[in-house]
Amino acid sequence: MRISNGAEANVYRSNILGIDCIVKVRQKKLYRIQFLDDQIREQRTKIEARILALSHSYGINVPPLLLVSKYGITMGFINGKLLSEIDGNTNVYLKDAGILLGMLHNNNIAHGDFTPANIMVFNKELFIIDFGLSEIIDSVEQKALDILLMKRSISQKGFGIFISSYKKSSKAHKLIIKKLNELEMRGRYQQRSLQNI
Ligand SMILES: Nc1ncnc2c1ncn2[C@@H]1O[C@H](COP(=O)(O)OP(=O)(O)O)[C@@H](O)[C@H]1O
Ligand SMILES: [Mg+2]
Repeated sequence: MRISNGAEANVYRSNILGIDCIVKVRQKKLYRIQFLDDQIREQRTKIEARILALSHSYGINVPPLLLVSKYGITMGFINGKLLSEIDGNTNVYLKDAGILLGMLHNNNIAHGDFTPANIMVFNKELFIIDFGLSEIIDSVEQKALDILLMKRSISQKGFGIFISSYKKSSKAHKLIIKKLNELEMRGRYQQRSLQNI
């Protein structure tokens, strides 16, 4: 059963040997030269699978990696809800999300699409999903971008809770938050100059 058709991948539900799983398959992009497209899809699949396995080994809650093929990843199904779909008070989850992002960053993983739509809640525990744009990289800027995207996706109060727990778990939070402020200043400056055109 197909459950999602993303820009990059199709996601299906399946059951292998009695285990509920998710199969994420990267689709062909017809506008790309075929051999390059094959290489890109294979590379992205490898990186996503590697980051899932690494995150798990660092003790970060992610779906368990079960199988990898050339363009497909089979992982455990998280029988929960997306954080973006939870009504009511999400403060406690945003606190945990800050801790998890700090853990990813301490291990030089930049998520690349860190929003409540890529965080699942199961049994009051958070699971990070969708490492499709992630990188293993020691970049203060990429890490600051993870925070900026989250900031733009949640309320101001929610962000206050998120960032205070991020500060507790991220070792390089001072540098990263300084970079975040720079990125935001740059954004505001660019917006103002566009208004003047
Ligand atoms: N391990 C999982 N367990 C349960 N649902 C999942 C899992 N992985 C993905 N999904 C569901 O599939 C959707 C799309 O998967 P995702 O990895 O976020 O790909 P996309 O790049 O299309 O956003 C998610 O929003 C979520 O609803
Ligand atoms: Mg997603």
